[in-house]
Amino acid sequence: MKFFIDTANIDQIREVASWGIVDGVTTNPTLVAREGKAFEPTIKEICALLPDKPISAEVVSVDAEGIIREARELAQWAPNVVVKIPFIKEGMKALHVVAQEGIRVNCTLIFSAAAGLIAAKAGAAFISPFVGRLDDIGHDGMELVRQLVPIMDNYDFDTEIIVASVRTPAHVIEAAMLGADIATVPFDVLDKLFNHPMRDLGLANFLKDWEKYRAAQG
Ligand code: E4P
Repeated sequence: MKFFIDTANIDQIREVASWGIVDGVTTNPTLVAREGKAFEPTIKEICALLPDKPISAEVVSVDAEGIIREARELAQWAPNVVVKIPFIKEGMKALHVVAQEGIRVNCTLIFSAAAGLIAAKAGAAFISPFVGRLDDIGHDGMELVRQLVPIMDNYDFDTEIIVASVRTPAHVIEAAMLGADIATVPFDVLDKLFNHPMRDLGLANFLKDWEKYRAAQG
């Protein structure tokens, strides 16, 4: 399974890249706004940092014409830009057009299996089911991934599933067990994947024993 990092923060991307586990980046208007910097230079900087990885940048238009215009512009910013388009009817009209032009699209705000199926049929390179936001309203977000994996497999769609709105390490593990292509994970959750108290205890004991051994050796 591929790991994307779900952030527009350059320092976080740099840090995770140094761990050797990052396969791409997803941003959205909220994440870009959180950084308080200009949109275009931020996306260009991320694309330059990871030039061979897909970097999602989201449109903000809600009419097909506007989405198409924005998608074409975003795609010019760097060869590895993936255009994020929301799952709305106008979005599907636009997706269908720009996908045929060779622009890779990540269809976002996927909350049902039907939405994922439609977005894949329209030509999305990626679909992003939002598991955490479904959990927030009392649904089982991972159930959507459980539905989408066989749907994509049954028809050999050339569409990758990005498990999005990831809130916990358990979401990441379940995504991997279900065979999702990608999980896009916030920095704090990626960081938590490294934690285990038994590892800390084990390492502390190894180092303590090694010191005792060295002291005994003189
Ligand atoms: C990624 O593509 C999504 O925009 C993101 O995962 C949404 O996460 P959130 O529900 O924590 O805002």
